[in-house]
Amino acid sequence: MSIQLRSADDIAKMRVAGRLAAEVLELIGQYVVPGVSTDELDKICHDHIVDVQKAIPACLGYRGFPKSVCTSVNQVVCHGIPSEKKILKNGDIINIDVTVIKDGWYGDTSKMYTVGDVAPHAQRLIDISQECLYKAIDMVKPGICLGDIGHVIQTHAEANYYSVVRDYCGHGIGMEFHEEPQVLHYGKPDTGLVLEEGMTFTIEPMVNAGKYSTKIKSDGWTVETRDGRLSSQWEHTMVVTSNGVEVLTARNEEPYKKK
Ligand code: MF3
Ligand code: CO
Ligand code: CO
Repeated sequence: MSIQLRSADDIAKMRVAGRLAAEVLELIGQYVVPGVSTDELDKICHDHIVDVQKAIPACLGYRGFPKSVCTSVNQVVCHGIPSEKKILKNGDIINIDVTVIKDGWYGDTSKMYTVGDVAPHAQRLIDISQECLYKAIDMVKPGICLGDIGHVIQTHAEANYYSVVRDYCGHGIGMEFHEEPQVLHYGKPDTGLVLEEGMTFTIEPMVNAGKYSTKIKSDGWTVETRDGRLSSQWEHTMVVTSNGVEVLTARNEEPYKKK
């Protein structure tokens, strides 16, 4: 499959899916408190997507994934499985990754949440990794390369003595969850695919406090840092416009409006 360019009609549908995914992240924040289980958070997201949004939680059953969202706590890099045994405690950091399908189109986005009071070093990792995503989004327009995106993320993370996970990347998205191209979060300027108007993809950097190596737990899904140190991730789905980018999963708390 090659890289598809979306029509105005396609983008209108992805805008709907993206807004729904963003809405789930807006809604779930109030429930992320000490004492809640990640399974309870999953249920709230699932029920909102299915009953209110009349949409489909894309993760549920995807390659056998057993839950509707991913909940990745502290040293978990991504793909954490919600569990009634995983109770959030004061000081935890958690990524919730929501993907919805509406009218056949996908919206994929994730956000970091803090549980109670978190240590300054943890908040800093969260903030820098969000800046990595924002700096990358700010570059997106026709004519730049994927390598430019990877480079800006890697440069900002490493300037802050963090590392960028190599084993997982962003991806094209549309009527399938993961499409071409792969969007690496590290790289060299002026290399790789040149962006064109109508391309739709995610950027979703995973930034580690320590080294970038990861390992998969015996559940076959949960990805953790090898060194056990914290990891932080933020994700948006976007479309390249004639002169910039439209963030399809922008939340109301964010600066992104249509460009
Ligand atoms: N939402 C993740 C991504 O950004 C993928 C999760 S796949 C799952 O690509 F099966 F773990 F849910
Ligand atoms: Co994604
Ligand atoms: Co995602």
